[in-house]
Parts: sequence; structure tokens; C-alpha cells
Amino acid sequence: MRLAVLVSGSGTNLQALLDAEHRGELAPGEIVLVASNRPSVQALERAQGAGKPAIVVDHKRFPSREAFEEGLLETLSEHRVDAVVLAGFMRVLTPLFLGRFPDRIVNIHPSLLPAFPGVDAQRQAWEHGVKVAGCTVHFVSPELDEGAIILQASVPVPDAVGLSSEEGAARLRARILEKEHEILPAAVQLLAAGRLLRQGRRVRILPPK
Ligand code: GRF
Repeated sequence: MRLAVLVSGSGTNLQALLDAEHRGELAPGEIVLVASNRPSVQALERAQGAGKPAIVVDHKRFPSREAFEEGLLETLSEHRVDAVVLAGFMRVLTPLFLGRFPDRIVNIHPSLLPAFPGVDAQRQAWEHGVKVAGCTVHFVSPELDEGAIILQASVPVPDAVGLSSEEGAARLRARILEKEHEILPAAVQLLAAGRLLRQGRRVRILPPK
């Protein structure tokens, strides 16, 4: 299965995917393209470092969201992409894009959904005072962070007396990120192996073939 990874930033999740592929742990998935909507981000360097085509499709250069998505789709089709992984990709995708890859687009979100959707999820969790936080890999649907859940991992939130909100959120972010780097490659491998069966909101993980 030919995979594109869409990024917007530092790309540590992309790195986890590249490392997993290098260890043979994504097969039959193969990363054939990394595309960023922002130029000069570290994720692009990581892709180049791994010898992957790294392409910028800058949303600011398109007159509308639809035009941007058409541009992105064209790039994906040039690389004969079968499935798409959003790894820190900070643009909302519309049904125009999503309809081209039904049950073939996954996203990593840094909270235990449905808690704390949207931006700055780790800070939201920290400020809410939860005792358990975590991350979620889910299929992407038109509603933000709403799609069927594939894998989740939890982390305990440490009691932290005297930490500022900034420090607390940063600590949680680091702990959650470690788990993201585990479950995103695992979910992508399951997708590539055809082992994810979505039935409504529920995703069944099928045994190895
Ligand atoms: C991650 O926390 C991911 O869950 C969120 O954006 C962040 C991206 O980090 N969607 P990176 O670019 O993979 O380092």
C-alpha cells in the first residue's frame, strides 16, 4: 500500500513512521511521498534524510481551500498514493478530499478523544486537571477529530505541585508524544495490512492474514 504522509511542522511522528518502515514494521505499507502545506519545516528535512520525495503544497498559494485540495490530490495521484496519514498536518480537509480516500485517511490526535478535540489538546487536558491523558489514531471524517477510533494509548498525568500551566502542558505534551510515536506506526501498519474493518463508529482489528 502506497502511503503519503502529510505534515505541517517538526515531523516527529513522521520520523517514527520512517523509523518503523526502516525496521520493516510498516510492511506492506510503503511511504512514497511526504507533503507539507508549509515550506521550510523540519518534517521536510526528515523526509529528505530518509530519501523520500518531499513536496511543498503551500495552501497560501491557492485561491481557495478547494483549489488547495485539488492541488494536493494532483500531487498524490502523481505518486499513485493509496492511503494518507496525517501526522501533525494542520489543515482541515473537506469532503472533496476525503471522498477520494474512503477509510484510507488516518490522523493522530494528542488526546483521548472524544475529550479535548481541536487545537492545544494537551493544554486543554492539563488545565482540566484530568488524571489520565493520551492520544488517539482515528479515521478522518468531515467533522474535526470525530472519525472512528482505531487505536488509543493513555498516560498518567503526574501530580505536579507548583508547575505553571505552560510547564504542565509541556510535560504532558512530551509524555503523550512518546505514545503517539508508538500507536501511529502500529495503526498505519494495520491499515496497510488490510486489518482495519470500520463498522459505523467501531473499528474492528482483524487477525493477521
Ligand atoms: C502531534 O502532537 C500530533 O498529535 C498533533 O500535532 C503534533 C505534531 O507533532 N496533531 P510532530 O510534527 O509529529 O512532531
